[in-house]
Amino acid sequence: MSEDRVTITPLTDGPLEVKGAVRINASDGTDIREADSVYLCRCGASHKKPYCDGSHKKDGFISTVEA
Ligand code: FES
Repeated sequence: MSEDRVTITPLTDGPLEVKGAVRINASDGTDIREADSVYLCRCGASHKKPYCDGSHKKDGFISTVEA
């Protein structure tokens, strides 16, 4: 397995955990962040999309895809 591989794991009742060197782009292609790991919202409640801000806990998000 390559060390450069990015792994995406849906956390139970939480965000997508993205581990590996990633670049997040805006819709116009502009780089907005580079990181070795990020947590992406999949509940729709985050006030800092595309990132998880913990709002899934307050909103009682229940994932339908098991990790
Ligand atoms: S998954 Fe955490 S705020 Fe949406």
